[in-house]
Amino acid sequence: MNPVYDFTGQVAFVTGASSGMGLDTARAFAAAGAAVALADLDRPALHQAARELADQGHQVLALPCDVTDEQQVAAAVDRTVATFGRLDAAYNNAGIQIPPADAADEDAEIFDRVHAVNLRGIWASMKHELRHMRAQGSGAIVNCSSLGGLVGIPGRASYHSSKHGVIGPTGSAALEYAPRGIRINAICPGTIDTPMVQDMIANGELDRAEAEANQPIGRLGTAEEIAQAVLWLCSPGASFVVGVALPVDGGYVAR
Ligand SMILES: NC(=O)c1ccc[n+]([C@@H]2O[C@H](COP(=O)([O-])OP(=O)(O)OC[C@H]3O[C@@H](n4cnc5c(N)ncnc54)[C@H](O)[C@@H]3O)[C@@H](O)[C@H]2O)c1
Repeated sequence: MNPVYDFTGQVAFVTGASSGMGLDTARAFAAAGAAVALADLDRPALHQAARELADQGHQVLALPCDVTDEQQVAAAVDRTVATFGRLDAAYNNAGIQIPPADAADEDAEIFDRVHAVNLRGIWASMKHELRHMRAQGSGAIVNCSSLGGLVGIPGRASYHSSKHGVIGPTGSAALEYAPRGIRINAICPGTIDTPMVQDMIANGELDRAEAEANQPIGRLGTAEEIAQAVLWLCSPGASFVVGVALPVDGGYVAR
């Protein structure tokens, strides 16, 4: 895809940066000239991703980080700023999927776990990014929701709760910070061909043909297509875009 964005001299922070959409977004920010901080729980994959970018000559920082632990998130964001001197863009993307369950049988521990990663992780990331951005008076944040943040699907109540949850704090913080030079938005990917979805297909939790048919465009999305939308939201091209939950879903929620 043509890298039309210019983030030269800027610093991007990406959570869940070792795989799927986070990894392709980190790659895209680096290709567009940004110094990139990659945060992820999976240390071997994190170091492999960082090595790939460093070998291409990019400025990169690998930050082992569990987003469910606010102290680790704070330390990762602080280290990004201590290393690169500023923070211009953040993609809060780390997330997990959980097995589908009848709403009458959902497990409270799994509910808590999916919210700890998918919602509290984004809350903590945004909080600590904003501490630097408000001092700077500039920045752009993109939080990862989902088509599951906009609609319901049988069997997905807990996951969808976490993804609907992302949209609330995104809007509130966006209103709070728009007058202070910081734009905050959410992205709502459709079904994207990443390791998360490949695992769901392999486990029999998702049927590929059905998932393709559910997206009017007739195929799964790619992680690169999400990366391009994140870069646009963080770029001056989106300078008037504040507090939206942007579907990037091949038409799924337009049906
Ligand atoms: N793939 C899809 O179809 C789809 C659709 C809508 C939304 N999403 C969301 O997009 C995001 C990225 O998903 P993906 O498909 O690229 O998944 P993925 O599994 O390929 O990547 C997720 C990354 O997050 C990391 N991670 C998980 N828990 C973490 C934690 N506690 N702390 C730090 N890192 C952690 C993983 O190690 C992994 O590198 C997730 O929030 C997911 O819920 C995915």
